[in-house]
Amino acid sequence: MTSPIVSGPIVVLTGAGISKESGLDTFRDADGIWSKVRLEDVATPEAFARDPARVHDFYNARRRSLLSSDVAPNPAHFALARLEEHWAHEVLVVTQNIDDLHERAGTSRLIHMHGEMLKARCGTCARVVAWKDDLGLDTPCPSCKQSGAMRPDVVWFGEMPLEMDRIYRAIAGCALFISIGTSGNVTPAAGFVREAREIAHAHTVELNLEPSAGHTMFDDAVLGPATIEVPAYVDRLLGAS
Ligand code: APR
Repeated sequence: MTSPIVSGPIVVLTGAGISKESGLDTFRDADGIWSKVRLEDVATPEAFARDPARVHDFYNARRRSLLSSDVAPNPAHFALARLEEHWAHEVLVVTQNIDDLHERAGTSRLIHMHGEMLKARCGTCARVVAWKDDLGLDTPCPSCKQSGAMRPDVVWFGEMPLEMDRIYRAIAGCALFISIGTSGNVTPAAGFVREAREIAHAHTVELNLEPSAGHTMFDDAVLGPATIEVPAYVDRLLGAS
């Protein structure tokens, strides 16, 4: 497919599919995280209240995997950084991912709407700090020194995603909305394409391995692996601008 002639701000929504070829599992694919563990056991405030050690184990393992030498940004992450650098208008990447691969690739206008695996938050003083080690029941808060209340600074099911006002403002003003590597099963992110169409009258395109749950909302679709399709799409955009 060719890219449309688009001029103006771009909002890019990314999901787990963009990091799959970097060595991080997706959630809902056949071999995904939710095929091995129930989200109700590890990704809700109730799960943390019931069995915090189990929730810590889950995120400690994912944090270690993210920090292992096998995991690195892939050409799709680098292509989005290139888009931000060379596009004449604003590019905002809104990611549902809690990994730091966009940052490592050089993207700077970035919102982690589901939080970040490499940050921890104290449930007592609410301070958020950079975090690379395992968290445990007896981990003291570096700020208030209380033990037992540290948690990953991620958004669990039933909690409010971050920076929603800023995201909706950007979507309302975008000319192009691109969704990459997300199955479109989780709100509010799954509803962004509708906002982009109905409020901004933006062109909407999805780049994904397979049609997402919301595929009929998109003007265009590019199906294939992110490492191939995202750099090619960015090249077409930059070539046409
Ligand atoms: N290239 C492009 N897309 C891919 C690739 C790839 N190499 N591999 C998988 N995909 C696609 C899958 O086809 C699927 O549609 O990525 C999508 C991943 O979907 P999910 O696993 O549902 O991940 P995501 O949409 O990011 O999940 C949203 O759900 O559990 C929560 O909080 C978690 O942020 C996450 C949210």
